[in-house]
Amino acid sequence: MKAIQVGLLGLGTVGSGVVTIIKEHQDKLMHLVGCPVEVRKVLVREKEKERQVVVEESLLTTDPYEVITDENIDVIIEVMGGIEHTRQYLLDAVNEKKQVVTANKDLMAVYGSELLAAATENGCDLFYEASVAGGIPILRSLVDGLASDRIHKMMGIVNGTTNFILTKMSKHGSAYADVLKEAQELGYAESDPTADVEGIDAARKMAILARLGFSMNVDLDDVSVKGISTVTDEDISYSKRLGYTMKLIGIAQRENGRIEVSVEPALLPDYHPLAAVNDEYNAVYVYGEAVGETMFYGPGAGSLPTATAVVSDLVGVMKNMRLGVNGRSAVSPQYDKQLKYADEISAQQFLRIHVKDEVGSFAKITSLFSERGVSFEKILQLPLKQSGNAEIVIVTHHATKKDFTEILEQLKSLDVVDEVKSTYRVEGNGN
Ligand code: NAP
Ligand code: HSE
Repeated sequence: MKAIQVGLLGLGTVGSGVVTIIKEHQDKLMHLVGCPVEVRKVLVREKEKERQVVVEESLLTTDPYEVITDENIDVIIEVMGGIEHTRQYLLDAVNEKKQVVTANKDLMAVYGSELLAAATENGCDLFYEASVAGGIPILRSLVDGLASDRIHKMMGIVNGTTNFILTKMSKHGSAYADVLKEAQELGYAESDPTADVEGIDAARKMAILARLGFSMNVDLDDVSVKGISTVTDEDISYSKRLGYTMKLIGIAQRENGRIEVSVEPALLPDYHPLAAVNDEYNAVYVYGEAVGETMFYGPGAGSLPTATAVVSDLVGVMKNMRLGVNGRSAVSPQYDKQLKYADEISAQQFLRIHVKDEVGSFAKITSLFSERGVSFEKILQLPLKQSGNAEIVIVTHHATKKDFTEILEQLKSLDVVDEVKSTYRVEGNGN
């Protein structure tokens, strides 16, 4: 039986895993699709580099078009990363009638709609399961498993690097820079880890999730983003003291047809299932109208976990080839995009401020909240080492984004407030 020929763009962390799984799970692939799978050509930057897997030197090339235009290649697997040039390679690949699998969330978050349309026009599949949450089959779960339901909310720990960093800082008191270096050495972080720590990688994944979950054309610019680089040991220790765990959380929520999508370091009650997701692990909590609460958990990064998702997409492509139905699975969005206004986004908030420890200080602060009908759930006040100052930590009940932003502005101009040290959204407190 004729083998399916694969062209691989990239042989780094994920590419090496793909080669390993294709080799080591060949019998299962044969059983599923009825023919062998062979890697025919592999694009790399540097042919002489030492590799994590053995690949015949004759298969390596530094010319992408030797792979894309090879008429014997059926499926292009893109695991090289990058946006602009990769977009062009994939457009050219589908024009060459190649089926495509990619792990590239940067690309899919920005050019996903264009690439899916081009693939469909050319009768090609474009699958991208590995682009969100590595080894967790979350895209397939949204598209197939939960196809009959209406999704109202998704909350995700979708970046392994930041989860690894926050876990180590929180549980072992490790220093931010040391843990980031460890995450890079373990292959979790992007080559430029700014995208991880500033929340951009998670934002790309949340844009992809929101697009599929809410069936709207959600763009990366629609996601409000804050990373973890400003999180301090004090923030972590106060949140622990109040019964919360700090996580970089992606939130996508739909109410009355309008959506909000954000990524930010947020506090979860210690009993929340996402609070128990540690190290490089990812999890996506999905609330559907009919199904209720579901949660998907697993490794969100790393060579073999991510490659599992890539090769499972390859199996999907091969099954479609056998049935002759490639290019028919992408569905255009059902709804026009409607974003929530600032007075429609509501959450509990954690606030840490340094104030003058004098009569009337607290009353001036609380009046700003009560004027807007925002009440407190928890309050902690401690003297600071500098004489005459105190630290106040407040967790509010629900406040709209608009009210809370105005309160913050006014707090900063109060004579009794020295500094607003930090604010964090509090999520999952029984709502
Ligand atoms: P990586 O280790 O940096 O590997 C990239 C590979 O692509 C390398 O083999 C590199 O060649 C090759 N490459 C890159 N640019 C090239 C160019 N312009 N021309 C020729 N070859 C080029 O990256 P990775 O971690 O495997 O990630 C690959 C993709 O998967 C990215 O889109 C990433 O976001 C996504 N992803 C990664 C993970 C993960 O855990 N790492 C998880 C989910 C998704 P050389 O080896 O010769 O330098
Ligand atoms: N840098 C990413 C992470 C890799 O840490 O989650 C997986 O997309």
